[in-house]
Formats: sequence, C-alpha cells, structure tokens
Amino acid sequence: MKIIFTLLNKVWQRMDYIVYPLQDKNKYVAWVEKEAWDILNSKGIMAVEKNLENMGFKRFHNSNSSYVFCSPCGNFVIKLAYANEGYKQFIELALKRQNNPYYPKIYKSICEGDDNFQITLMENLSPLYGHNTFAYNDLRFLTSFLNARTRNFLRMGKRTFNLKQCATDLDKLFKAEKMHGNLNTTSVMRRGMQLVITDPVYHSS
Ligand SMILES: Nc1ncnc2c1ncn2[C@@H]1O[C@H](COP(=O)(O)OP(=O)(O)OP(=O)(O)O)[C@@H](O)[C@H]1O
Ligand SMILES: [Mg+2]
Repeated sequence: MKIIFTLLNKVWQRMDYIVYPLQDKNKYVAWVEKEAWDILNSKGIMAVEKNLENMGFKRFHNSNSSYVFCSPCGNFVIKLAYANEGYKQFIELALKRQNNPYYPKIYKSICEGDDNFQITLMENLSPLYGHNTFAYNDLRFLTSFLNARTRNFLRMGKRTFNLKQCATDLDKLFKAEKMHGNLNTTSVMRRGMQLVITDPVYHSS
C-alpha cells in the first residue's frame, strides 16, 4: 500500500512535466533567468511588459504592487512584483514545499541584488468560487487557526499532513518580525478543488 502511495506521489510530482509541454516551460525559465533581467536593467519594467505581450502573454492583473501575465498556452503565469520581503520569503517557502499541493508550483523566481522587482514563473491557477467546498473548508480551518489569539496546535485534529504542514509554516512566517499575515479569499486560489495559497503575507520594512 505504502509503495503504491509513494509511486502515485512520484507520478503526481512529475505530472506538470507530462501535462505541460516541457519546451514551453524551459523557454520561459530561460526568459526569466536571462532576457527579463537584461531588458529590466537596460530598458525598465514597461519594456519587460511589452516583451511579454510580444511573446503572446495576456495581462491578467494590474495593481500597485504587481503585474500578472498568462502564457499563450494558458499553463503558465509570470508575475512581475515590486520586491517585498514577505512575498520573497513566501516564494522561498513554496520552493521548499513543491510536494505539498497547498503551495503553488514555482518554476523559477528571481529577485537579485538591489533589484526592485521579483519575477516569478508559476503554474496558472483559478480563482476560488463559492462552490469550491473542499477548498473553502481548508481555508476556513487555516484562517480560524491562524487568526486565533493563541494558535492551538491540538485543534489541528485529524487534518492531513499537508494541511497541518501548511498551517505550521504560515504560523512561523506570520510570527516573524514586521510580517503581516493576510490570509483570506483574495490571497488564495485553487488547482481544481485543491486550495492553493498564493500571497498570504507582506512585510512592512
Ligand atoms: N498563479 C496564478 N495563476 C492565475 N492568476 C494569478 C496567479 N497569481 C496571481 N494571479 C492573479 O493576480 C492577482 C494578484 O495576485 P497576487 O495577490 O499574488 O499579487 P499582489 O501583488 O498581491 O496583487 P494585489 O496587490 O492586487 O493583491 C490574483 O488575484 C489573481 O487574479
Ligand atoms: Mg495580493
């Protein structure tokens, strides 16, 4: 039983390689690593946005803190965000937790030196709608756990390992100095019925 579970888990981890064309992924990883930074440093952020649009990316979201674009194949998202220690640490955490489905799949994220931008290539997720009962139940558990005056680990009860791990991770992240937890329907998305945490914390530096 354990072997079957391990095998299924391995297949799940490789799923993105099977489902998404590897070529596209490699192309966008290379773009983030090289071109994006060259363009950003020489011509600025608007030129990076223009370059993405020329590659066929569609703009999803614009705000004071970020610009989000979707790839022509619809499988990838590139987020250009003003660097924030909170988001940076969350992405580092997500990269450590790529086997935990509550975290987004991150293919590349760069925020180097004194640069003011963090450029992240990740999976395309869907918004959370009212009928996503499973995802909502998990979100309700996480928010009530994290918003409680005293976070009571005993209350985790019989939640899955991955959900408990996520709650414990966020607890630690939110407690760090100048970190502000911001977990609600606007900071999560979903992969099918699976809740995915996307932007749960900001840092007031
Ligand atoms: N992986 C993703 N897949 C699909 N859409 C995404 C993804 N990441 C972000 N988005 C879209 O971009 C929006 C903003 O993302 P996010 O909250 O991570 O950035 P933000 O800089 O905090 O923006 P805001 O200040 O508006 O909250 C999300 O509400 C969602 O619509
Ligand atoms: Mg946000």
